[in-house]
Amino acid sequence: MTYDFDKVIDRSNTYSFKYDVTKIFWPDTPDNCIPMSLADMDFVCPQPIIDAMHRVADFNLYAYTSALAAPGMIKAICRWWKDKYDTFIEPSSIKYVGKVMDGIANVLEAFTNVGDGVIIQRPVYSNFTGTVENRCHRTIVDNHLLSDGKGYYTMDFNDLEKKCSDPNNRVMILCSPANPVGRVWKKEELERVCEITRRHNVLLICDEIHADIRRKGVEFTSIFNAASDHSNIISFGGINKTFNCAGLHGAFAIIPDAFLRSRFDRINGMQSPTPFGIAAIEAGYNEGDEWLEQVNDYIDGNIDWVISFLHEKMPWVKCYKPEGTYILWIDFSACGLDPQEIHHRIFIRAAVRAGDGKSYDPTVTNAVQRFCIPFPRSIVKEAFERIAAAFSDINV
Ligand SMILES: Cc1ncc(COP(=O)(O)O)c(C=O)c1O
Repeated sequence: MTYDFDKVIDRSNTYSFKYDVTKIFWPDTPDNCIPMSLADMDFVCPQPIIDAMHRVADFNLYAYTSALAAPGMIKAICRWWKDKYDTFIEPSSIKYVGKVMDGIANVLEAFTNVGDGVIIQRPVYSNFTGTVENRCHRTIVDNHLLSDGKGYYTMDFNDLEKKCSDPNNRVMILCSPANPVGRVWKKEELERVCEITRRHNVLLICDEIHADIRRKGVEFTSIFNAASDHSNIISFGGINKTFNCAGLHGAFAIIPDAFLRSRFDRINGMQSPTPFGIAAIEAGYNEGDEWLEQVNDYIDGNIDWVISFLHEKMPWVKCYKPEGTYILWIDFSACGLDPQEIHHRIFIRAAVRAGDGKSYDPTVTNAVQRFCIPFPRSIVKEAFERIAAAFSDINV
């Protein structure tokens, strides 16, 4: 079937984080604000998932459920990894977690102590910092990504070698694909990360939640296809981003090593997805291919539109075309305005909420902003037209 991603859906008063909570966090949010700071999509889910939700709802009873009683879900996950990434996953290595960040917090709890160093690569998803520092009371160790100055980021392997050789740093969290910088790491890059972490006995947590959203022709390499030895690797995947199902908590860990698995189990506990979550994972991974192909095409179109619009109307803005994710990491600093003024113009004058650069990387200013753009094209156009108007006095 053909999906209509141009359709504007009113999500207000649907318990939506993006629409119903923004004003609670930021009371000065303008009424007509377009919320582009949060990573979910304003698109309907795949029809097979919608149908599955109706089936579950019609059972009229929603008592305890267990991932252990859901072999169809596990089989669907394995099918997806094999078909999409050519990765063989042993069914017993899959552990339901619901939300990636809960799973990562459980790994930190299971394998590290308060104060231990956790390597991340900034700029990176801000919740990595929140989870490591505020939730788990571990210490951030930044293996900062290198930028070519135009927005293309690569890894600093010499620095990674140094950070991994420090015995205080027992864990690395890799964001693959990388939010917010949009890299889909090449196999050679991942091989080096695997080799360095393995040699220094550093546990590698690989967050692959954005794996399925990529530009046409960009290949994703699962961490298990880059590593020759899986005994220090825990990856996370799920339907939360892929099929716009974050509200169903459809994430899981993949832990091939039996020892790591048993230690993780002790903290992770019961593995109790809701019946909706189980049914959505199964339906999405068995039958969601067609929707995913269409949504990726649509997101490609949004990204191309924004980049060419910025090129034409605000040529001084730096915006690298991301290889993966639906996220744009946009640098407005060349206009010369104070970062707070840039933030103000985007958020208050243009009424577009983006993510402040500083929360992804304390070494940049809020002149850099993160935009999630999986919206109907008309909304994306409206947002960036308003931003261009808010900077119309700037000539660089
Ligand atoms: C890289 C990354 N990991 C994890 C998450 C959050 O996933 P979850 O809602 O499953 O905790 C996000 C959400 O934006 C993300 O970008």
